[in-house]
Amino acid sequence: MENKVKLQIDKQTIEVSEGSTILDAAKSVGIDVPVLCYHPDLSLHGACRVCVVEEEESGELLASCAAPVNAGMKINTRSIKARKARRRNVELLLANHPNDCLGCNRNGSCELQDITYDLGITKEDIERVSGAVREHEIDDVGPALRRDLNKCILCGRCVRICEEVQGVSALQFTQRGFNSVVTTAFDMPQRDVNCANCGQCASVCPVGAINEKSEIEKVWSALEDDDIHVIVQTAPSIQAT
Ligand code: FES
Repeated sequence: MENKVKLQIDKQTIEVSEGSTILDAAKSVGIDVPVLCYHPDLSLHGACRVCVVEEEESGELLASCAAPVNAGMKINTRSIKARKARRRNVELLLANHPNDCLGCNRNGSCELQDITYDLGITKEDIERVSGAVREHEIDDVGPALRRDLNKCILCGRCVRICEEVQGVSALQFTQRGFNSVVTTAFDMPQRDVNCANCGQCASVCPVGAINEKSEIEKVWSALEDDDIHVIVQTAPSIQAT
């Protein structure tokens, strides 16, 4: 029989299977914790720290997508400390992210934009932390995909889906620190490596770093048809004044 673990989340006492993560436990009672690098169909990466929650007794911040539940733990998903840490982690992602949401085809369907909005991060907050932005060339020469590495937030979803689901491994992390990037072998155009153009990487990319060209065309033709209001109103842009 499956062992159960009893814990408290946001003052609710719940029981979940041993080995569950805190994120699993929160989801089981309908508590929403934001995530970026986590994807339910992929292995854990635990890099973005957007999913941090606070363990009440120790005051420790835990990455809920990776931390397993323990009996008796008391988790607060919305404490001031957890929200501040989450906000700081998102601000650090935005610090090196191009601030051109209105010109991005993912405007309105970008997970980073949604989280930014939910956390109440303003244009002024972004300006306060803004630093250098990367200047990679856009890889637009392949038949199906367009890669803009300047928008990559290093969540690694594309790397994992290409390896774990497709078994191709066309994308990898390279370099260190600010120069870290997810790209192909020798940074070649995706057209010239073993990419199958399946589009799985684009489907899990939370931002506008990898896109299917057909999707981009749909967005731009909607704009030409004057449907811009539909796209812009879906989620307010962080660049809007
Ligand atoms: Fe948990 Fe990224 S979603 S660390």
